[in-house]
Parts: sequence; C-alpha cells; structure tokens
Amino acid sequence: MPGMSDELDLDIRTGLPAHLRVLAEKYPRAQWRGHRNFNDLTAFWLERHLMFRKLLDKLVGDAQQQLDEAQPRYGAELSRYTGFFLEQLHGHHMIEDHAYFPKFQVFDKRLLRAFEVLDADHHALDRHMQELADSTNSVLQALGTGKGAHDSIGRLLSVQERFHGFMERHLSDEEEIIVPVVLEYGAEMDADEGGV
Ligand SMILES: [Fe+2]
Ligand SMILES: [Fe+2]
Repeated sequence: MPGMSDELDLDIRTGLPAHLRVLAEKYPRAQWRGHRNFNDLTAFWLERHLMFRKLLDKLVGDAQQQLDEAQPRYGAELSRYTGFFLEQLHGHHMIEDHAYFPKFQVFDKRLLRAFEVLDADHHALDRHMQELADSTNSVLQALGTGKGAHDSIGRLLSVQERFHGFMERHLSDEEEIIVPVVLEYGAEMDADEGGV
C-alpha cells in the first residue's frame, strides 16, 4: 500500500521475515522445477524476471564501459534498451497487480502481508522507474549537446545500480512468495483462469 513505511519497505528490506517465508522454507528454489505443480506459466513468468535482470545488467555494464571509453552507439542503445525495459516492466506490473496477486493471495492467509509487501514494492518501483527515466533523459540531453556527458553518465550509473539492487530484492522475494503458492496449491487452481 502506498505510504507504508516500515522495515519491509523495498528501499531498506534485506529479505522477507521468517513468518512470510513459511512456504518458501517448504519449497526451496532448487526444487521448484522438479515439482509436479510447476507449470509453463510459472516458467514463462520466471523467464520474464530473467529478462529484466539481463537488461539491467546490460544497462549498468554499458554505462561503466562508457565511462571508461566512449562508444558511438551508447546514446542510441541507452535510449532503446531503457525504453524497452521501462515499458515491459510497466506491463509486467499491471499483469501482476490485476491478475497474479488477486489470484494467488486467496490461497494462504498467512501470506496476505507478503502480498501487501509486493504491492508496496510496485509503488516504490514506480518512483524508481521515474528516477531512472529522468536520469536517462539527462544523459541523452547531455550527449545531444556534444559537450561531454561524463558527469551525467556517472549519476545515471549510480541510479541504475541502486535500481538493480531494488529490482533484485523485489524479484527474488516475489518469486519466493508466488512460486511456493503455485506448488502448494496448484492442484486447487483453475488452469484456465487468471492466466497470462
Ligand atoms: Fe512484481
Ligand atoms: Fe514480477
């Protein structure tokens, strides 16, 4: 929920507390894919998370490289990949907010608080996405003037690295909330409903 401020805030959280990891403890990550309730939709959803991780790694790596040695295509790639990342992440959040979270949060009352945390994460990420867009635009403007963009790229890199940390925290916790619910209650779920 917006405005929530506690130790579970995305900006300060270092992991989920034990009472929200009851199912995560029962289903360790290494066993997910071998479980009979692990389905194609879950595999597809984890693939999306992997794509977001790879895009962020690329953006951070490209900015680091640009600070070392300017690449002629940096601006074009920065614009293209950041635009794609933000657009895809926005769509991903919409699907989770409107399909995944409502569908999965009803199965286990112990995890209701965990779904509130994920919802609050999305609001926090909205703000960080705006910051990422703004710092990216500052770099593109600086590149456009031709007067050197080293300082603005340095600032962008620190925004990207912070975003990388928030994103990894959110994706990892979200996976450890949702996937164990699918494995525990998969047999009760209607496969035709709420899919993506
Ligand atoms: Fe999410
Ligand atoms: Fe997600």
